[in-house]
Amino acid sequence: MEHLEKNIKEELAGLTIIDKLWYLARKFEGKIVFSTSFGWEDQVITHLIFANNIPIKVFTLETGRLFPETYYVWNRTLEVYQQPIHAYYPQTDLVQNMVNTKGPNSFYESVENRKECCYIRKIEPLKRALNGNEIWITGIRAEQSPNREDMKDVEWDEGNKLLKFHPIFEWTLDEVKQYIKENNIVYNTLHDKGFPSIGCAPCTRAVQPGEDFRAGRWWWEDQSKKECGLHQAS
Ligand code: ADX
Ligand code: SF4
Repeated sequence: MEHLEKNIKEELAGLTIIDKLWYLARKFEGKIVFSTSFGWEDQVITHLIFANNIPIKVFTLETGRLFPETYYVWNRTLEVYQQPIHAYYPQTDLVQNMVNTKGPNSFYESVENRKECCYIRKIEPLKRALNGNEIWITGIRAEQSPNREDMKDVEWDEGNKLLKFHPIFEWTLDEVKQYIKENNIVYNTLHDKGFPSIGCAPCTRAVQPGEDFRAGRWWWEDQSKKECGLHQAS
């Protein structure tokens, strides 16, 4: 699928970010989705989509373990834009079985348990959310981790068999913050309390000044194991 990736990249070259989203929304009509975790990168993209009425379906993976602050941002976003955000939940029987056998916090006990929880609460619902679509938009930025620096803003996702597009891939954190401020966009207040990257509450903590963006995610694990599998390096 490299040719598709290359073609899209060429067609997007030189367009503004809004025109890129419009172009893709027309080209992949009804088959284009954006995933939000309500972090500030995602709030920028949600704003671009909703404020311009671009026909891209916005969804979130509701793991059941999000921070209260995240639910607040979600709700405020619905109030501000009056447009739908589709929630995908884990399958009840899978969560029940895991929690009944291993307890509610099994993810602290081993990498295997943690991956099982991420699979049940995020990956399986993600597969349902992506099913039937041709392009998936995310809020990934190159700066977020060394692994992400090697990625591209348009890439073929072999695992999910679709294209991925990261519209603010090249933005710095300062640019994200600036855009949020200028456009008065609702954002998660945890970002002001040392949380650059926000996932599930039990698996995210604040970072110290100078620490890596993602140091607070699954902080008890080895650096090398710390991706949840949503975004496999291709
Ligand atoms: S993760 O792989 O570590 O969980 P990260 O938090 O950096 O991902 O977010 C990168 C992108 O993944 C976000 O911009 C968003 O598009 C998507 N994403 C992450 N978590 C979720 C979620 N719970 N629901 C929907 N999308 C998500
Ligand atoms: Fe489970 Fe933690 Fe993964 Fe959330 S981040 S799905 S709570 S292991």
